[in-house]
Amino acid sequence: MDGRDLLAQLPDASVSLTFFDPQYRGVMEKLSYGNEGSRQKARSKLDQMPDEMIIEFIAEINRVIKPSGHLMLWVDKFHLMEGIHHWVKDTSLEIVDMITWNKKRWGMGYRSRRVAEYLIILQKTPKRAKGVWTNHSIPDIWEEKVERLHAHSKPEGLQKILIESVTEEGDLVLDPASGGWSVKTACEASNRNFIGSDLVG
Ligand SMILES: C[S@@+](CC[C@H](N)C(=O)[O-])C[C@H]1O[C@@H](n2cnc3c(N)ncnc32)[C@H](O)[C@@H]1O
Repeated sequence: MDGRDLLAQLPDASVSLTFFDPQYRGVMEKLSYGNEGSRQKARSKLDQMPDEMIIEFIAEINRVIKPSGHLMLWVDKFHLMEGIHHWVKDTSLEIVDMITWNKKRWGMGYRSRRVAEYLIILQKTPKRAKGVWTNHSIPDIWEEKVERLHAHSKPEGLQKILIESVTEEGDLVLDPASGGWSVKTACEASNRNFIGSDLVG
């Protein structure tokens, strides 16, 4: 199911936490490799989200998140460097933190080799940490190697510890572009309710 159709069905301020891992070519385009390997070819076959679509997703995510709830947004280094302000400028979401995920796996690069992805943490106003973010021992560099269930699988351990820090049992966690369903698995391990969608699978 298209994540925007799922979002349209959700009431305002009904979700405590959303993970969003947009599907874009980002790194692949910046590196312009002529000969992408089989895994990269599998990635590029997935439906890509243009900027306008990402903005549409984030506008709806902003609507469905509760006040002081969070959006955890996965980006690569090019989106990190160029900035994501244009994705969130018309929302009540403010950047409050960022975690670097060391994938413990070597990627490509003409210059440095990629080993990391980045999780930008945004909070819907009113912005506050006290009483909302409960675990103060999460490091801002996180090492976790993942089994490849999906071309873009994200670390379940990191997502689980974040879910447990900013939500309570029974809260609703959303992932509108679920891919390999890593957020769903993390929610099951934490007794949180999950709702998600993907165009495939
Ligand atoms: C980067 S992957 C997500 C990976 C996921 N976070 C995980 O841990 O496995 C992005 C996903 O978005 C999906 N996608 C692309 N356009 C979509 C849309 N309009 N609605 C829902 N999912 C979409 C793709 O099929 C892909 O599986």
